[in-house]
Amino acid sequence: MSNYYADKLNSQSLFQVYETDIPRVKQYLDAEIDFVRKNLSGSERVLEMAAGYGRIVKELASYCGSIVGMDISAENVELGKEYLKDFPNASMVTMDAHKMTFDDTFDVILCLQNGLSAVRANPAVIDNIINLLAPGGAVYFSSYSARFWDWRVKWFEEQAAKGLLGEIDYDQTKNGVIICKDGFKAMTHSPEDFKKIGDAIGLPYQIKEVDESSIFLIIQKK
Ligand SMILES: C[S@@+](CC[C@H](N)C(=O)[O-])C[C@H]1O[C@@H](n2cnc3c(N)ncnc32)[C@H](O)[C@@H]1O
Repeated sequence: MSNYYADKLNSQSLFQVYETDIPRVKQYLDAEIDFVRKNLSGSERVLEMAAGYGRIVKELASYCGSIVGMDISAENVELGKEYLKDFPNASMVTMDAHKMTFDDTFDVILCLQNGLSAVRANPAVIDNIINLLAPGGAVYFSSYSARFWDWRVKWFEEQAAKGLLGEIDYDQTKNGVIICKDGFKAMTHSPEDFKKIGDAIGLPYQIKEVDESSIFLIIQKK
């Protein structure tokens, strides 16, 4: 199956996605990272799934023991290695979330910035994440709050204007789904979707809204 991010929206293009001129979008991106940062004690082994070029990895590296960013795009991982060169406890690895294997477990696994949608996660991917968590560890999934919809659309319009994405298909873009005329599609995990995931896993979980822009699902492993 083709992967829009890996094939078209990687490396410098992905970098430009996050170079937004929209203050409310910057606030959302900062608030999402800040929420995770406040929950780190400084010693955790962290994995960020679908980490792109390591934007979030860089922001968290000084607040944990070690952090690995994994991404399906080798171009992103190459850019990430350069981007993270001053952070000795941070590394990047090329891997598909659907075939994720590591020798060790992690205390914290992150799948942020609507990552479950980007990797097209299925229940097997989520079960594997739980297996890779150490006892006492936690996984953080985040998606968009419905209250952020108008800003999210503005951000995608900005990306389309920069030529990073195709023109937005406004007939089909609604109810948390963004569709562009070149085949790009991004979904949302609503609080109800996150509740279904939490219930299916059967471990203690919380669903939290942050900054009226993100929705987090945090699952704790006993
Ligand atoms: C919207 S970007 C987010 C990047 C990063 N999390 C951030 O917030 O800066 C989505 C990322 O998911 C990655 N991705 C898509 N499918 C993947 C998969 N199956 N396994 C691992 N990464 C994947 C893409 O290459 C892309 O870097």
